[in-house]
Parts: sequence; C-alpha cells; structure tokens
Amino acid sequence: MTDQHEPTTSQPRAPSEREIEAAHAIYTPRNLKLYDFVVHGFSNRFAWRCPTRALDAHYETNLSSNHLEAAVGTGFFLERAKRPGFDRLTLLDINGSCLEEAERRLAGYGPDLLQASLFDPVPVSQPYDSVGLTYVLHCLPGAMTEKLAVIDNLKPAMHGETVLFGATILGQAIKPNLAAKALLSTYNRKGVFHNREDDFASLAQGLRDRFDQVRVWQEGCVALFRAQGLGAGE
Ligand SMILES: C[S@@+](CC[C@H](N)C(=O)[O-])C[C@H]1O[C@@H](n2cnc3c(N)ncnc32)[C@H](O)[C@@H]1O
Repeated sequence: MTDQHEPTTSQPRAPSEREIEAAHAIYTPRNLKLYDFVVHGFSNRFAWRCPTRALDAHYETNLSSNHLEAAVGTGFFLERAKRPGFDRLTLLDINGSCLEEAERRLAGYGPDLLQASLFDPVPVSQPYDSVGLTYVLHCLPGAMTEKLAVIDNLKPAMHGETVLFGATILGQAIKPNLAAKALLSTYNRKGVFHNREDDFASLAQGLRDRFDQVRVWQEGCVALFRAQGLGAGE
C-alpha cells in the first residue's frame, strides 16, 4: 500500500518518565524467553498480518557491516540475518535485560552495548552505515511527531548516506482482526504500546521531513520504512 492517507495532527507533549518506563518494563528476563514466539512467531502472522519473513527480508536488504540496532530487544532479526560478521555492531536499548539477552545471542559478533533512552541524544561519536529501528515506535509514548524526535536523537549515529530502516505497528487506518483488536486494546491499556493515534501518513511525512529518500509501505497493520539522505529540510 502507498501513503495515500492524510496525516493526523495532534498537540506535541513531552512523555513522562512513568510513560517511558512503562513502555519497556514488560521486557523482564522471564518475558524475554517468550518474546520471540509471542511477537514474531504468533502475533506477526495471526494479529498484525505482517509475516516475519517480510521483516527478515528488510534486514537482509538494509543491514550493513557497520550497524547500530536501536531498541534491540532479544536481537531476533540480527541473529536470523546470519551475517558472517560485522566491522562494527552496536546494540542499544533502555532495558538492561534486553541488552543482556541480545548480547548473549550475538556474542559471536562481539557487539558494543549502549544502555540509553531514545528520548535522549544517542551518545556515539562515529556514525554507522545502517540503523535499525524495529517495533519500537509503537511502544513509545506521545504522538507520532513526538516519537519521531527519537530520529533526531539518532542523528549523531548517522551520516548523510546512512540507511535508517525498521517497522512499526499502526493504530489508525488499519483493518485489525479480532486478535489484533484484543492485543491493541490490552497493550495500550497497560502502556506497553502507545499507538492508538499512529498513522501511516504522519510516519511517512515525519521521515520525509528528515530524509531525502523515503520509502514506507504497509503489510497488514505494520508500516515498514527505509530512509536515507539525512538532512532534508535543513
Ligand atoms: C517490541 S520490542 C522490539 C524489539 C526488537 N527491535 C524486535 O523487533 O524484536 C521494543 C524494544 O524497545 C525498547 N525500548 C522501549 N522504550 C525505549 C526507549 N525509550 N529507548 C530505547 N529503547 C526502548 C524495549 O526495551 C524493547 O527492547
């Protein structure tokens, strides 16, 4: 699907510490053991109707050997990408348990770890050739315009040709089935998701405001994106 929707507008508002905490508190060591199966095994297929292989393909196409994975979770996609190696791989997450789990799985690549919030400027001095931002925007509190401030915080990690890619579950202009409706309702109530107002057009516009080359497309309830050429509009 192409970006045919009109962006929704909403009043900017800074997320509270409590909202930021709620968005990642669920990722305990115990829950992380179930995460891959629940999210990428079950929900992608039966609720979000975005096959995990579409996300795998996204990684295969866009992953470079100088990569930053922002909000790494368990490291699921990097592990499945089965790259022979990386010149430089950094795993970023606000949640220490996620970093531990992802480091364990990706130990063979000798990744650097960065425990940081995407709501703060990312403390890196050298840019990467690719940055992954998968399944985190829908968790973050705030309207799409506020969430996309995390891309501005990632600027120190990007040069003019860096590819930013990822995916996010939308809450607007989708046709959720019963499973998707139930998950959206539960996760938004618990503060794990904040995506009731997230729409395709606002995401696409926010990316176009920042990058020269933007591609956004939709699979089921999920928007996948690729953006390159940081500096648009500056
Ligand atoms: C739904 S998981 C996605 C994990 C992984 N990218 C994937 O696709 O499987 C969301 C991730 O975002 C992280 N996260 C949530 N809020 C964050 C923030 N403010 N800064 C950095 N990471 C955050 C969580 O700890 C968790 O690892």
